[in-house]
Amino acid sequence: MIYMDNAATTLRKPEAVKQAVMEAFGTMGNAGRGASEPALGAARVIYGAREKLARFFHAENPSAIVFTANSTESLNIAIKGLFARGDHVITTVLEHNSVLRPLYECSEKGVELTILGCDEKGNISYEEMEKAVRTETKAIVCTHASNLTGNMIDLEQAGEIAERHGLLLVVDASQTAGVWPINVQELGIDVLCFTGHKSLLGPQGTGGMYVRPGVKIRPLLTGGSGVDTYNPHHPEQMPTALEAGTLNGHGIAGLSAAISYLEETGLDAIRQKELRLMRQFYEGVSRIPGVKVYGDFDTDRRSPIVSLNIGDYDSAEVSDELNMTYGIVTRPGAHCAPLMHRALGTEAQGAVRFSFSHYNTEEEVAFAVNAIKELKKQEGNDNEFI
Ligand code: ALA
Repeated sequence: MIYMDNAATTLRKPEAVKQAVMEAFGTMGNAGRGASEPALGAARVIYGAREKLARFFHAENPSAIVFTANSTESLNIAIKGLFARGDHVITTVLEHNSVLRPLYECSEKGVELTILGCDEKGNISYEEMEKAVRTETKAIVCTHASNLTGNMIDLEQAGEIAERHGLLLVVDASQTAGVWPINVQELGIDVLCFTGHKSLLGPQGTGGMYVRPGVKIRPLLTGGSGVDTYNPHHPEQMPTALEAGTLNGHGIAGLSAAISYLEETGLDAIRQKELRLMRQFYEGVSRIPGVKVYGDFDTDRRSPIVSLNIGDYDSAEVSDELNMTYGIVTRPGAHCAPLMHRALGTEAQGAVRFSFSHYNTEEEVAFAVNAIKELKKQEGNDNEFI
């Protein structure tokens, strides 16, 4: 199998991640619940992971890092916990449903939305972003990179607009955490939402958020916290304020090992390899007549994703054929990114997304380019492969 669906989840993880999860099973108690060795051991592992993530994202301190199950949970906590009737929020067509659906729920409760469009390459305009600001605007909520095109939003520009107008900047880093360095303080990010199982190379069911000290978010969940038991209200101190119930300690142990792996290997080395593979694939497929590639490849400041279509073929058909005939795993369809597909005119056809990991090889990429060439040659009369 050649796995090229790393934007959905990375399949291959560092050995140290597996070892850390295995070790956590059978040794880990419940962090913050008692002072037994297993409970203290769990607390140490979780605090260690918080420290590493704080360093990784340049947070002010480890308490600014909250653990959740994934980006979706983080984004729900942020979006539903920050905005109220009368607020105005600016977002973009690049967003995943994990941003859009919580925002739509808010808009049903009186929050106003401006959704910025994009040009034919899938890029937004920062002039339009600034023009959209009104007196009641509370935040810019945006992805760092589209999970369909790989195009990035320039957080420096978004951050400057947010700073000029006193807005919160809430960022979905699902497709960039573990690929691009993110310095939350330098970029003026107020809330950064990330998942552990994609380019951070951790287990599924891990993720989190950075919340700038002083930013108050109403909790989505309240309940057991291990502290202040007789208080009828959930504790307000961070990170407990946004963490209710037992954390995914086993997963967090794996995520912690994954962050160490990324630090030891170096994000620059990882990103350069992924972008080189992406470029090799793009150069190969974009020359094939009848193959359409989406997104902006004039720059390498992007996430290592190439989405394409072959003629009018349904993207699911192409992805199935790649899987069954060539053993290449891709993701077709709509990618939970309805507005981006609508903007690119691919709502009906979808697109076949190839997304690379540094564990992929040049040989695999050459094989995948060749597979697309062969499929293009096999065009039948009725949009079915012959
Ligand atoms: N959000 C993930 C993707 O883009 C699952 O495939």
